[in-house]
Amino acid sequence: MISIAILGTGNVAKHLFSSFKTTPNVKVVQVLGRSSEKLNFFKPYVSVSKDFTVPKKADIYIIAVSDDAIEKVSNQIQINQGLVVHTSGTRSIDALHHHANIGVFYPLQSFSSDKKVPFSEVPICLEVKQDKDLLLLEKLAHSVAKNTFVLNSAQRQYLHLAAVFVNNFTNHLFYLGKNICEDQELPFELLQPLIKETVLKLDTKTPYQAQTGPAKRKDIQTITKHLSLLTDANDKAIYKLLSQSISDTYGKKL
Ligand SMILES: NC(=O)c1ccc[n+]([C@@H]2O[C@H](COP(=O)([O-])OP(=O)(O)OC[C@H]3O[C@@H](n4cnc5c(N)ncnc54)[C@H](OP(=O)(O)O)[C@@H]3O)[C@@H](O)[C@H]2O)c1
Repeated sequence: MISIAILGTGNVAKHLFSSFKTTPNVKVVQVLGRSSEKLNFFKPYVSVSKDFTVPKKADIYIIAVSDDAIEKVSNQIQINQGLVVHTSGTRSIDALHHHANIGVFYPLQSFSSDKKVPFSEVPICLEVKQDKDLLLLEKLAHSVAKNTFVLNSAQRQYLHLAAVFVNNFTNHLFYLGKNICEDQELPFELLQPLIKETVLKLDTKTPYQAQTGPAKRKDIQTITKHLSLLTDANDKAIYKLLSQSISDTYGKKL
């Protein structure tokens, strides 16, 4: 049995808790957070506390707080033994320097509060400072997820950068597309099959192979028309920059 204390009450803390709750060889012994209201989510199932300094004894302390607060929360914890890990894609393992046994347990997925994610499909990126701690962290990761990877802090930072491109930026483009539909009273649902196919295609093609559209074809008249339809300066700039990047990728000048 692996005992866990979770520090943080946000999206990742909730998803981890829900996943661990149904995992036979893992027991969450405590959830710690600074908001009583947010701790109420966990209270029916597990001991909760607002005092980060003295968590209950656990094998692993998972710090799932905002990136900027990781080091501060880590410095507050007073423990004699146990592995302290954070869940950030960007922060170095060294943010936990206050402790002897440290690591990273980064679930590479986009978690929102009201959307369930099948945790078993989420790749878990692991890092430890001392090799002897890897076995325990791998055991925890394998008990909830199929795929685990050992990455160092520099590699994880680049992976997170790539994730921002494929998830955050793509989603922002969906948002801008939805705005255009709403302005013209067109249903966004019309675009849903296209969005799904864009992602499904990546099962059989590389992103390079999958690209289509006016910038790849160098259809200047279409691009000029689209730019004339856009009224917002930022939207125009995004359209221009992405079209240029696509065009450059296929060795054509716009
Ligand atoms: N969301 C994702 O998709 C995702 C995916 C993988 C990894 N991560 C990483 O997981 C970690 C948590 O992300 P999240 O999405 O769960 O964030 P979140 O939903 O915004 O929750 C942040 C948590 O941090 C707490 N917190 C913030 N500042 C604090 C401080 N100074 N002292 C104590 N607690 C503090 C918040 O408490 P209050 O509610 O009281 O403010 C809240 O419990 C981050 O390192 C993030 O990079 C996130």
